[in-house]
Amino acid sequence: MKQIADFTIVGREQLGEQYFTLTLRHPGQLPRIEAGQFVEVEVRDCPAVMLRRPISIHDVDESQNTLKLLVQIVGKGTRKLSELKVGEGLNLIFPLGHGFGVEGASPLLVGGGAGIAPLFHLAKCYRRKGVEPTILLGGRTKELIPVRDAFEQYGRVFYATEDGSLGAKGLVTQHPAFEGEYDHICTCGPTPMMKAVGRYAMEKGVECEVSLENMMACGIGACLCCVCDTDEGHKCVCKEGPVFDVRKLTKWLAATK
Ligand SMILES: Cc1cc2nc3c(=O)[nH]c(=O)nc-3n(C[C@H](O)[C@H](O)[C@H](O)COP(=O)(O)OP(=O)(O)OC[C@H]3O[C@@H](n4cnc5c(N)ncnc54)[C@H](O)[C@@H]3O)c2cc1C
Ligand code: FES
Repeated sequence: MKQIADFTIVGREQLGEQYFTLTLRHPGQLPRIEAGQFVEVEVRDCPAVMLRRPISIHDVDESQNTLKLLVQIVGKGTRKLSELKVGEGLNLIFPLGHGFGVEGASPLLVGGGAGIAPLFHLAKCYRRKGVEPTILLGGRTKELIPVRDAFEQYGRVFYATEDGSLGAKGLVTQHPAFEGEYDHICTCGPTPMMKAVGRYAMEKGVECEVSLENMMACGIGACLCCVCDTDEGHKCVCKEGPVFDVRKLTKWLAATK
């Protein structure tokens, strides 16, 4: 059930120049949160940012009643959020959308850029089921792949960087980890990366879920600005996604953009 709540910031960590995390305590009891669900964050005291910003739920700690966001500073809204301090409040609508199914006995999780954010909660959900995921994280440089130590606690982690500063040099989709045997793939990140992963999964006949990061406004299925043309018709990514079975996205896969 969606709710709107004023959280308190109980932790903040800067991770290089571009990324930071916010740990947020819920005023009551956190509801169950699926990996891949997201929040719509209010950006206060910033007239240039009228709309809430969608951010994935990176981690959940039920015992502390907290959730964590991993945010990349890309524009006005995320810059303003980066200035928040411990003790301040943050209003969220959450949990939004449908998350990953946490399926398969040998899953591969593929993340690029800020798309690695939801994969952490997902990796923890797999471990809770007794499944060790293989995790492949990519970025332009080592600095642009944050929270590596945290991921390494929950799976077998591989890296790909475009400049070769960490792991294999090249794109995530060229990594030798793809030569392994998997029965399920989950991916979130830049659209070209997700399309390459989705096409690979289709060719191999492996189930694959992709988490789309379309531009969003309302986050609750009211404004239709996030619509994706799926094989089952037009769907609001915010409400019926962001996670979709790639077999239902053949038009999206075929589109060049
Ligand atoms: C479901 C979902 C989950 C997301 N989860 C995360 C997350 O966990 N961490 C994170 O850092 N980011 C996440 N994003 C992306 C994040 O919402 C945008 O980066 C943010 O809204 C940009 O706001 P801004 O005001 O800083 O940038 P703006 O000033 O609005 O824009 C700056 C630049 O960012 C681009 N941009 C804006 N929104 C998006 C978007 N949705 N996707 C791609 N590019 C965008 C713009 O085209 C522009 O080039 C998610 C997006 C969606 C839809
Ligand atoms: S963001 Fe408004 S319908 Fe999806």
